[in-house]
Amino acid sequence: MIDNKKTEKIKNRYNRISKLYDLVEKPMENMFSKHRKEMLKDAYGNVLEVGAGTGKNFKYYPGSVEVTAIDFSPKMVKIASEKAKYLNNIKDVLEMNAENMTFDDDTFDTVVTSCVFCSVPHPVKGLTEIRRVCKSGGKILLLEHVKSTKPVIGPLMDILNPIPLNIYGANINRNTIDNLRKAGFQNIFVEDLWLDILKLITIRNDK
Ligand SMILES: C[S@@+](CC[C@H](N)C(=O)[O-])C[C@H]1O[C@@H](n2cnc3c(N)ncnc32)[C@H](O)[C@@H]1O
Repeated sequence: MIDNKKTEKIKNRYNRISKLYDLVEKPMENMFSKHRKEMLKDAYGNVLEVGAGTGKNFKYYPGSVEVTAIDFSPKMVKIASEKAKYLNNIKDVLEMNAENMTFDDDTFDTVVTSCVFCSVPHPVKGLTEIRRVCKSGGKILLLEHVKSTKPVIGPLMDILNPIPLNIYGANINRNTIDNLRKAGFQNIFVEDLWLDILKLITIRNDK
C-alpha cells in the first residue's frame, strides 16, 4: 500500500531545499558532471527524465533528443522550468509523481534518472512505472548511488542514513539493483564509477 504521508514528507523536504540545492551541490558537481555527460550521450529519441530536480542534466542532452522532465516537487519544477526556457530540446517540465505517471504505456525511447531512486518514497513502484512508460526495447539510463556491499562501509551507511534523509529526503542505503529486479527488469548492466557506491546502470527494456 502507498503511504501518502511518507510521499508528502519527502516532497516537502525537496521543496524546502530547492532554492539552495544548486549551491549546496556545487562542490560535488565538479566531479559529477562528467558522469552526467557520459550517461546522457547515449540518450536518444523521445526522452523522459524522472526526478529532474533543478534541471542539472538539461544542458548535457544531445541536441537530437526531445526531453519531457518530471519531478514531484513543485518548487524544483519551477527552477527547472526556468533553465528549460533556454534549451530547445527540453519540451516540457511537469509536476508529476514517478510512482503514478499519466503517460501512456510505451511512450518513451529513453528514460533517464540521476540520484533519484535514493529518494523516491516507494522505489519499486516508481521503477515499475518507468518499465511501463518506456517502449519495449527502449533504453533506461540511471546514475545512482546505492548501499555498499563492503563489510564496514555498508553498515556505516545504515547508521548515517537518517542524516541525509532528514535534511534532503535522500537515503544513502538503498539497494537499487535489487529494486530494479523486483520491478521486473532483466537486462541490467552495471558500471561502478566510485567504489561500489556510485553506479551507471544501463537497461534494455525487454518486456
Ligand atoms: C537528489 S535530487 C536529484 C535531482 C536531479 N536528478 C539531479 O541529478 O540533480 C532527487 C529528486 O527526485 C525527486 N523525486 C523524488 N521522488 C520522486 C517521485 N516519486 N516522483 C517525482 N520526483 C521525485 C525530488 O523531488 C528531487 O528533485
